[in-house]
Amino acid sequence: MRRLLRANLILLAAFAFASEVQASEITRAVMLSNSCAACHGTDGNSPGAMPSINGKSAQFISRALLEFREGKREATVMGRHASGYSDDEIQLIADYFSTLP
Ligand code: HEC
Repeated sequence: MRRLLRANLILLAAFAFASEVQASEITRAVMLSNSCAACHGTDGNSPGAMPSINGKSAQFISRALLEFREGKREATVMGRHASGYSDDEIQLIADYFSTLP
């Protein structure tokens, strides 16, 4: 039951997101964001010591990623990870995580 509710919430978030960007962009955002799951948990919901990033504002996430990328924010791994993304990709990732419950 909880799983179903969770799936529905994710679907709702995906539809809200869909009204803003085209389907192909959603696929791209999901694929890019999958690389974050290894550390930040499924859908950005971390089960451990890593910070959860689901539901944070797009502005917070994009700013953090840009600062990590530019070396302006202290990091152990995020500096390297963020360096793999363009401005456009960072915006997609940030918008996507901000829609997740
Ligand atoms: C290899 C593990 C790893 C991966 C993969 C990873 N992160 Fe991180 N993330 C971290 C760690 C560790 C921190 C804490 C800063 C540091 O030490 O680098 C962090 C911090 C952050 C923060 C700041 C959170 C806060 O509350 O201050 C954001 C936002 C973030 N990551 C987003 C992402 C996104 C988006 C992705 C995928 C594109 C991602 N991370 C992939 C390990 C990871």
